[in-house]
Amino acid sequence: MKSKKYFNTTGFCMPERHYMIDPLRNQKIIFDLIDKTQYFTIHAPRQTGKTTLLHELAHRLNKEGNYISTVFSVENAGYKSIPLPEAMRTIIESLYEESSKFLPNNELPPKLTGYKKSHNLLYMYLSAWAKQMKKPIVLLLDEIDSLYDDVLVSVLRQLRNGFQGRPKHFPSTIALVGLRDVREYKTKVRPNEASLGSGSPFNIKAESILLGTFTKEDITELYNQHTKDTGQIFSKEIVDRIYELTGGQPWLVNAVANEIVEKILKSDYTKKITLAHAEEVKENLIARRDTHLDSLIDKLKEPRVKNIVSAIINGDTLIYDTFNDDLLYVMDLGLIRKEKYDIVFSNEIYREIIPRVLNFALQENIKEEGTTSWYLNPDGKLDMDKLLKAFQKF
Ligand SMILES: Nc1ncnc2c1ncn2[C@@H]1O[C@H](COP(=O)(O)OP(=O)(O)O)[C@@H](O)[C@H]1O
Ligand SMILES: [Mg+2]
Repeated sequence: MKSKKYFNTTGFCMPERHYMIDPLRNQKIIFDLIDKTQYFTIHAPRQTGKTTLLHELAHRLNKEGNYISTVFSVENAGYKSIPLPEAMRTIIESLYEESSKFLPNNELPPKLTGYKKSHNLLYMYLSAWAKQMKKPIVLLLDEIDSLYDDVLVSVLRQLRNGFQGRPKHFPSTIALVGLRDVREYKTKVRPNEASLGSGSPFNIKAESILLGTFTKEDITELYNQHTKDTGQIFSKEIVDRIYELTGGQPWLVNAVANEIVEKILKSDYTKKITLAHAEEVKENLIARRDTHLDSLIDKLKEPRVKNIVSAIINGDTLIYDTFNDDLLYVMDLGLIRKEKYDIVFSNEIYREIIPRVLNFALQENIKEEGTTSWYLNPDGKLDMDKLLKAFQKF
């Protein structure tokens, strides 16, 4: 028997295709906020289930019929040199395109013809849409922190301007969703540039919701779906071990199961899953460096990340301090977490892979600096630029 569903390791989950647990299981707060016409933010590291949650939420709201809800990403406007009017146009195009996946024709946002590029296009467009609709609109804006500088500021400002007009003249709820808490958006805006002119960059939000990792119970529930389909069991012992390996990180939880079931046991559901398989997976994942691990590893190039991570590897005491921006940043990336009074790697897989990668980088450095010519130009003269940079680093 071949199972219809599978463990998803690429992109957000779809209930008809993938094994999944209810992304809204602990989120009564979201429904409360929507009923109170509030704006809020959701943040979590990459591949935690943000987009999955948004899709489920929009579909559920539309099905219940009290709201008009859609998810869209502003990622297409997320590059530094994009001119502001162009960015606004790109954003509403994405909103228009995506909406057709969630809404019937009579609830779609306005057609794009007639909308020229303009600084406050988003504001105008959302107002026009809200005015046309009888039901309140719940807008779920994904990948907010892919935006840069004045584009980010402008989006936030336009949403703030519309806020007073909700729910008749503007979406009644808007959720901004991304990697970092809204308090950190300011760090993406260059100093001395466009500012929102107030303490908080998004001071109309009522709540900022952090999406957590899976508990052992969540993992058990997810794996049980596979067992029900196929008869193949993940014993409690195995789940415990996988919990240690993954720390409940949702993508890792799926990747480990997928690796055991499909890659190692070749979808032969009569085979027994053992602890040895879990260990084998760890090595496979580390060796293969799927995008999930690769994008984290990429972050180690940033000095502030490398510093903190190196301190943990060296056994230096890091004190949890909410004023330490670097520490919060590395936590928001999902690399490390607080455990009682300690700061530790979020899971065993990260704990194993990171020192290996850093060690590798160190060896590369030694190789380069061990040769004498790295600070010389091809003509044999000193490369002052390179020398100074190396000195700064030193
Ligand atoms: N509700 C869920 N149940 C099971 N797995 C999930 C769930 N939500 C997310 N995942 C896992 O996390 C991965 C990333 O999900 P996604 O929604 O794209 O996260 P994000 O938007 O935070 O990057 C999925 O490919 C899947 O492996
Ligand atoms: Mg996403």
